[in-house]
Amino acid sequence: MSQQPIILFDSGVGGTSILKELVELLPQENFIYLADSKNAPYGERTTRDIINLSVKNTELALSMQAKLIVVACNTATTNAISHLRLNYQLPFIGIEPAIKPAALHSEVRRIGVLATKGTLSSELFKQTSEAFTQGIDVIEVIGKGIVEAVEGGWTKDEKFIKQLEKQLQPFIHQSIDYLVLGCTHFPYIIPQLKHLLPSHVKIIDSGRAVAKQTEAVLRKNKLKTSSKTEGQVQVYTNADNVYHVKELVKEIHNVEVKQMDF
Ligand code: DGL
Repeated sequence: MSQQPIILFDSGVGGTSILKELVELLPQENFIYLADSKNAPYGERTTRDIINLSVKNTELALSMQAKLIVVACNTATTNAISHLRLNYQLPFIGIEPAIKPAALHSEVRRIGVLATKGTLSSELFKQTSEAFTQGIDVIEVIGKGIVEAVEGGWTKDEKFIKQLEKQLQPFIHQSIDYLVLGCTHFPYIIPQLKHLLPSHVKIIDSGRAVAKQTEAVLRKNKLKTSSKTEGQVQVYTNADNVYHVKELVKEIHNVEVKQMDF
């Protein structure tokens, strides 16, 4: 069992930001990453749709012998993880916007959250936000066109940067000191965000925390691999453009990228 892979899924390439953290922390494990780019973005879909797509990805992961599934997508976590946990036996790790540390450390008591519509409108996000942001102003912005830009590889285009700059205005005008990235695609635009936001704004995402939580759950369930050698990392995408995915994950040692219809 412990040699079976940890399987991650996302609406596309965004969750590879989590895969990198996981491979760094757990290099002996085998990983499979499922990039459902064909159905991206999830963030504009109904809860029912997000649940159905998450079930489809979970069924595929189970057919590939997953020992643990990482839902490497805030939108799928906030809309579907309770359904998955109710219906499947294996452990699921989810990712949610890191509002708790941002709220704890904010000196001006005003933080920003940049996420998808699906995440910001979910019950789980509302509950977490209410629980951890007493006395804190939370400025929420739905990131428009960002997932598409990361998927398509045009995050450096001038037109995209202009659109992004417009979307960030509420954060600038309301002088936040922490920006929470609530979508796994968004770490890929951190250089652009840093360039457009005032230099004192700290940007946080949940990648590292998810990797640590995965390790803790593997340990608790006695699922950690006993292998002493480097594990396999395989990325499956249902997009036509495999080259773009290869570029995003090329820093992962020995990674294999393949096209598959799912
Ligand atoms: N990467 C995803 C997330 O963390 C999904 C974005 C989308 O497909 O809309 O929310």
